[in-house]
Amino acid sequence: MHMAITARDSGIRGSQGKIAKLASRLVMAVLVQLLCGAAVPLVAQAETEPDSVYQAMGGGAGIKAIVGDFLQLVLADVRIKKTFLDADVEHLAMRLNEQFCELSGGPCKYGGKDMKTIHADLHITNAQFNALAEDLQLAMDKHGVPSSEQNKLLAKLAPMQHSIVTQ
Ligand code: HEM
Repeated sequence: MHMAITARDSGIRGSQGKIAKLASRLVMAVLVQLLCGAAVPLVAQAETEPDSVYQAMGGGAGIKAIVGDFLQLVLADVRIKKTFLDADVEHLAMRLNEQFCELSGGPCKYGGKDMKTIHADLHITNAQFNALAEDLQLAMDKHGVPSSEQNKLLAKLAPMQHSIVTQ
């Protein structure tokens, strides 16, 4: 009997200790947030994460899958497929992965040529540019990327039109 009470007592004391530890951790966490000035903007930040497009695309693996489907669409698209006859598609996929990852806020750095140089001799028209953008949207649709997030990526690509279209 005596043993049981002692055991129960120490059990309570044990859980009180745990609660005290948890409480002090909570206080520390709040203090750290206050010191960093992060306590207030925490909620607002969640809506404007700099990598929200990257996340919506499914991260690195999602982007890889999207680029794969995108290139399949491009290579089958009668409006533009001729331009890719001499292209090294594997290399292109690797560079597009990097580029889309960086533009969507992911942890990558594009290491390819600049858009003007690489497309200079390809005689690309506005219609072809739009066809390629359409294929990209189809690929993102297929992978369930919400159109609001798609538009953010397309908005990053739009200014490149001046460098890519030469015809
Ligand atoms: C927003 C639009 C576009 C983006 C972001 C884009 C992006 C890229 C990237 C990252 C590369 C690889 C660069 C490198 O290897 O260093 C590339 C190469 C290429 N792009 Fe584009 N591109 C766009 C539009 C187009 C269009 C409209 C066409 C043709 C219809 C096209 C045809 C090609 C071809 C054929 C290559 C391979 C060139 C080579 O390896 O010599 N691109 N593009």
